[in-house]
Amino acid sequence: MQGQTVDKVPVWLMRQAGRYLPEYNKTRARAGSFMSLCKNPELACEVTLQPINRYGFDAAILFSDILTIPDAMGMELDFVEGHGPKFNNPIGNENDLRRTIQTEIDTKLDYVGSTVKLIRENLNKNTPLIGFAGSPWTLACYVLGGGGTKDDFIQVRKWLYKQPDLLVLLLEKLTEHIISYLTMQIKKGADAVMLFDSWGGLLSYHNFPIYSLHYLEKIINRLNESFPTIPKIVFVKGGGVWLESIVQLACSGIGIDWTVDLKSAKKLAGKDCAIQGNLDPAVLLGDRNFVRKEVKKLLDTLTEEERKNGYIFNLGHGISQHTSPENVSILVDTIREY
Ligand code: CP3
Repeated sequence: MQGQTVDKVPVWLMRQAGRYLPEYNKTRARAGSFMSLCKNPELACEVTLQPINRYGFDAAILFSDILTIPDAMGMELDFVEGHGPKFNNPIGNENDLRRTIQTEIDTKLDYVGSTVKLIRENLNKNTPLIGFAGSPWTLACYVLGGGGTKDDFIQVRKWLYKQPDLLVLLLEKLTEHIISYLTMQIKKGADAVMLFDSWGGLLSYHNFPIYSLHYLEKIINRLNESFPTIPKIVFVKGGGVWLESIVQLACSGIGIDWTVDLKSAKKLAGKDCAIQGNLDPAVLLGDRNFVRKEVKKLLDTLTEEERKNGYIFNLGHGISQHTSPENVSILVDTIREY
């Protein structure tokens, strides 16, 4: 991410600390719930380090969640088993939304800063720690969508068409929160930061630049002013159609999902911007020979020159909880042996 030539392809996986790992499930059970795990710096540090200790990944990612921001805005996040994220104080009307926008976060996310500091103290010096936040648009999807993903966030898209001014107010406020949040993570020791626009792909072709890219750009530019040497990564799931404009952002790396051709993405990004991705997470549900074959196939799509200059192996989205831990070893070994 610093633009240096490397002699081996670096690898880490989105959601590398998660339910596919038995040691994660044990720690989560000790914490009692997902949110108590996030809010306990010692335990959050422990699960961050688990995949590093097991696989020797080249980067650690802070264990937390993108929804800590709406939680701090008073929506009270909860994860109900089998249901995904739920807010105890969902937004039902315009008044709720205005109140949420006006709620200040102050020191409510300090626990994340404590976690970052603790991880940085306990992580091997040569392994970078990635901090992260959701993009304003993706957070708005959850804030206005009641947490559910089953209906492609139809609620937020309804707000977009019916009350765009109010949506813009929310996006602007989230942008400010995200800048402060990432600033805090960097000050506490994050070596790089990543923005997850997991639902950017739900926007129409002409709305993506207005309702998502614009805010991503604002965040990247503001962080570049304060922290020019800290690498910034942007991942837009379903963002393939806008790749040409996404690579124009002043960031150091672009994450791509598995619907994008890696070779074309690397060509578009050029030498100054790294590409991160893009194995289909479902590949890891196959048998070991299949995993080996698909990992090699992906590495083969780039030239040696391209692999050494700005390529980071990752999945195209988060690892599935049904992945066998052994297949992740095979993935890492295949990249190392390549
Ligand atoms: O190693 C890591 O990457 C862990 C840190 C991390 C988590 N969430 C932990 C988590 C990160 C970077 C995230 C980001 C996140 N959270 C995103 C953006 C990335 C993406 O996947 O698109 C999004 C959209 C969320 C919101 C979220 N959090 C959802 C929709 C869910 C439920 C999904 C599910 O798999 O059930 C979560 C919960 C969550 N966040 C888990 C983990 C390990 C599983 C919850 C559990 O342990 O019960």
